[in-house]
Amino acid sequence: MENAIILIFGASGDLAQRKLIPAFYHLFASGSLPKDFAIVGTGRSDLSEESFRQHLIMALDEGESSRMNDFASHLYYQKTFPDTQQDFKQLKKRLAELSAKHQTGNNILYYLATPPQLYGIITEKLAGTGMNQDAGGWKRLVVEKPFGYDLQSAFALDKTLHSCFSEQQIYRIDHYLGKETVQNMLVLRFSNAMFEPLWNRNFIDHVEITSAEFLGVEERGGYYDNAGAVRDMLQNHLLQVLALVAMEPPAKIDAHSMRDEAVKVMQCFRPLAQENLQHDLVLGQYTGATFRGNHLPAYREERGVAPDSRTETYAALKMFIENWRWQGVPFYLRTGKRLPTKVTEVVLYLRKTPHPAFVQTAPENKIIIRIQPDEGILITFALKEPGTGFKATEVGMDFHYKDLSKTMILSAYERLLLDAVKGDATLFARTDAVQACWEFVQPILAYKESSQASLYGYAAGTWGPHKADKLLAEDGRTWRFPCKNLTMTDYCEL
Ligand code: BG6
Repeated sequence: MENAIILIFGASGDLAQRKLIPAFYHLFASGSLPKDFAIVGTGRSDLSEESFRQHLIMALDEGESSRMNDFASHLYYQKTFPDTQQDFKQLKKRLAELSAKHQTGNNILYYLATPPQLYGIITEKLAGTGMNQDAGGWKRLVVEKPFGYDLQSAFALDKTLHSCFSEQQIYRIDHYLGKETVQNMLVLRFSNAMFEPLWNRNFIDHVEITSAEFLGVEERGGYYDNAGAVRDMLQNHLLQVLALVAMEPPAKIDAHSMRDEAVKVMQCFRPLAQENLQHDLVLGQYTGATFRGNHLPAYREERGVAPDSRTETYAALKMFIENWRWQGVPFYLRTGKRLPTKVTEVVLYLRKTPHPAFVQTAPENKIIIRIQPDEGILITFALKEPGTGFKATEVGMDFHYKDLSKTMILSAYERLLLDAVKGDATLFARTDAVQACWEFVQPILAYKESSQASLYGYAAGTWGPHKADKLLAEDGRTWRFPCKNLTMTDYCEL
């Protein structure tokens, strides 16, 4: 790996503190970063280098002290106003000095961890000072979601980014793609003769993707109230996971082939018709409730949220993929905040056997891919209960990732940051994928704004509005209860 400078815009913000710096520190402590490197934080705040270092080091867990001072010696701060060309000239000068000091050969990874309104301004300033030029060392631009607010603004953002950086230089982070179990879906599907023959409309009855969170909006009310669950989770994380579940085998495991296949499946999402959304989409918002003896406030009482807000904190959607593999198979997606636990899983329900041979049959076979927590795979099937007669009962074969090896599993951010430094874009969202997903959700955004949109309340700490249960019940189905294998501590994060 080549030495490099990592430049974080918005370095005093929450993301840098909670995710980026800890991820870089872990990579550093495990010897995964290049031999020499510098991490330069920029922001509007008037911070000395020393206080910047202190500020970030304090944010790391106390247990992680061993190599902290060493790590801190790679951290730098440069006050920069995003709209001041002069500041960028200074920044360029500083980077040249640091490049010489750390022998980074002018390789620079820019990380946009600022509010999205600044993405355009910053990239234009980088281009205006020639800091986007690959000559004499590579330049890469990592962009955090949201990539736009809707289809139109996503186009506009891309236009600006592309006028300053080439698509090859742009790395759009969808951190779900960095999760080990999400990637494992590809190995599960394409390295096993056992699963792939079943993975289609002939054997799969329906698919369910759940991404539940126990937490509410915490300190992010201001952002979230303008976004909602559809923009925040469905448009990106859930559809990206769905693409990996549903895509065709790539010719090769490389950035091109993988992302080509992901886009192809996204282009097959059946367009959502306005008139069906009333039925196929359920939007909800949490109300205040007592959960395990604690009062959880209503969404409308959260800081930064309008008291009459109609922003959805829950979304469930029934959708279809129109291609040979998936024609007619419903995909049910749901995501929400203030649900009883934090869990993300994909469940593939196999069709029932054509003839019910035994009087008491077990439920259909399921392949359950647990993305988090307790990453693993569970396969359920029927066996005979011991004793007389033929009573079939459901049993499970359960694999937990933690049993696989003692190798440290990289967190999603660690994995993606490392890939970006290495120049591997396989797990980053490409422009056409982002646009395909916006195009797909655009009717939902229009529906949300319309007078027909229903918003259902659900008590904080429950599994969302009853209407979402009805969505499946009408098709003779129920959502899987994803806590079955969770311990009580996982079940409740209070
Ligand atoms: C982020 C969303 O992208 O993903 C948050 O903006 C959400 O609202 C988070 O909480 C969930 O990520 P994870 O990895 O904790 O499931």
